[in-house]
Amino acid sequence: MEVIVQPTPPDAARMAATLVAKAIRRKPNLVLGLATGSTPLMLYGELIRMHREEGLDFHHVTTFNLDEYLGLPPNHPASYRRFMQENFFSHINLSPQRTFVPDGMTQDIHRHCHEYEDLIVSCGGIDIQILGIGSDGHIGFNEPTSSLASRTREKALTEQTRRDNARFFATLDEVPHNCLTMGIGTILASHQCLLLAFGPKKADVVAAAVEGPVTSMVPASALQFHADAKFIVDEPAAAKLKLRAYYDYVLAHNPG
Ligand code: F6R
Repeated sequence: MEVIVQPTPPDAARMAATLVAKAIRRKPNLVLGLATGSTPLMLYGELIRMHREEGLDFHHVTTFNLDEYLGLPPNHPASYRRFMQENFFSHINLSPQRTFVPDGMTQDIHRHCHEYEDLIVSCGGIDIQILGIGSDGHIGFNEPTSSLASRTREKALTEQTRRDNARFFATLDEVPHNCLTMGIGTILASHQCLLLAFGPKKADVVAAAVEGPVTSMVPASALQFHADAKFIVDEPAAAKLKLRAYYDYVLAHNPG
């Protein structure tokens, strides 16, 4: 696990975007796992800028989103398909047929989830998985007590997550109770994970995920089992880390 503390969210987003851009230039048909929510917006903004100003080419890239609300059609204002379309996909030259988001309207959840997993495997697996972290420690929508071996499936959202995400809906009542999400096992199978976290509200959960015990009560702590997981966080989100000086030392002495 590597912890990289950056002064501000734009600095962190630029660092993450640079890592993604380098990977795309090295492997033009990169398979990128994507997250929604507020945290990755600046990263997407920076990748869009790199596409426009530096010719970063997404034409051969494939994307898989982590999750989607169950029962929301793709054109619903709060669906994750729509979120990705508006905040990222429509601004770059991705091939639409290579952007995958779980289908919240599927009539056969079990089969759809299996097919999603198979599709990831048939594309060679996810090269870089972008992650945010919920205030309850979730990654994707793997809420506390999710199996650390779980695969794409239906999950019930906690009330805390529904409240956290109510800002994307007109009322709290409109927030779906269930979702489809890649599992923790799916996320751990990606070649590299980049988790971003910003702001003081994430400080406790970042410390628990990085320095606490591995526990399904903090699903992000499962990333301790990942051989190449980076937490890129801003100062407020790093505030509760005990080994902060060590992370800074490692970063300062890492030529990469
Ligand atoms: C959404 C997702 C979630 C979010 C998390 C943090 O696709 O994967 O795990 O990353 O809920 O959300 P924000 O960034 O809005 O704080």
